[in-house]
Amino acid sequence: MDSLTKIDGKFKGKDIISLDQFTPLDLKILFFQTSKMKKIAYNAKPSKILNGNIVTLLFYEPSSRTFGSFSASVKQLGGQTVEIINPQQFSSVSKGETFEDTIRVFEAYCDAIILRHPQEGTAKKAAEAAFFVPIISAGDGIGEHPTQALLDLYTIYEKFKRLDNLTVLFAGDILYGRTVHSLLRGLSLFKGNTVYLLSPRQLRLTEEDRKRFSKKLKVIEIENESQIPKADVWYWTRVQKERFSNMSSYERVKNKFVLTPELIKKYAGKNTIFMHPLPRVGEIDPKVDKDPRAIYLKSQTRNGMYVRMALLGLVLGKL
Ligand code: NCD
Repeated sequence: MDSLTKIDGKFKGKDIISLDQFTPLDLKILFFQTSKMKKIAYNAKPSKILNGNIVTLLFYEPSSRTFGSFSASVKQLGGQTVEIINPQQFSSVSKGETFEDTIRVFEAYCDAIILRHPQEGTAKKAAEAAFFVPIISAGDGIGEHPTQALLDLYTIYEKFKRLDNLTVLFAGDILYGRTVHSLLRGLSLFKGNTVYLLSPRQLRLTEEDRKRFSKKLKVIEIENESQIPKADVWYWTRVQKERFSNMSSYERVKNKFVLTPELIKKYAGKNTIFMHPLPRVGEIDPKVDKDPRAIYLKSQTRNGMYVRMALLGLVLGKL
């Protein structure tokens, strides 16, 4: 299948690899369905929307929330899952099977494959290998994490009723954070957005990405807390330890920027929302959790399941 096909209002059968495939209209369609999914999820009566569908979760990299969120999404809609974790350790992959063959074998058993993989570009590779079923990326190395950005955008939209003319602060790992890369693409679809990127110098965007995003967004790179803007959204991230080959370089940059009540008091606006894709490992002081502006363990997480339900329904042609 052609991997970077634009959605263009038609989700059915499309691979979901990058936010570059979306237009504002596609997001509108997805968000409309997402609001309906919220009601379905609250309703104790099982939905039959994905009755008869099997979705494979093929995860080559550790994941608990994205895995759980996708698995629950399929089940909320009455579908079933085949769940394969770490195939490289125990299956034919360890016998030397190629990645392409693994994809073609699993597509024979299901209607869609959700793929997480530690190498950038593998979601596209899988989409090219698959003959019949759509591939939905659940994160490819330091590349993208499209469904996380979709849920982040939905969460921001829910709060501000718009996705343009926003100021968003990203803090932490801008270089390796795939959720950041996808959300920057998502914000690029709308006019008038400004992003502040707060990170240690070593974890800034690549030059190529900085140029790319600067075409659509006002990009301001900062490295001191004193430069933090009030902003509509503060999007905090974990420094991606698993992407470092040298642990002492990781130790030097980890938790350089920590979201604390003091920082909030000094720089946040009264309507600033605090987001994080999770897991957090020290970059947010737990004291922040009870601030009503902190939504990472509240609506942001829950929206993940609703958005994935809507996306699955649309890609499988059931909505
Ligand atoms: C993120 C990821 O895997 O990229 N987690 C997630 O899917 N919610 C963020 C992270 O691991 O830091």
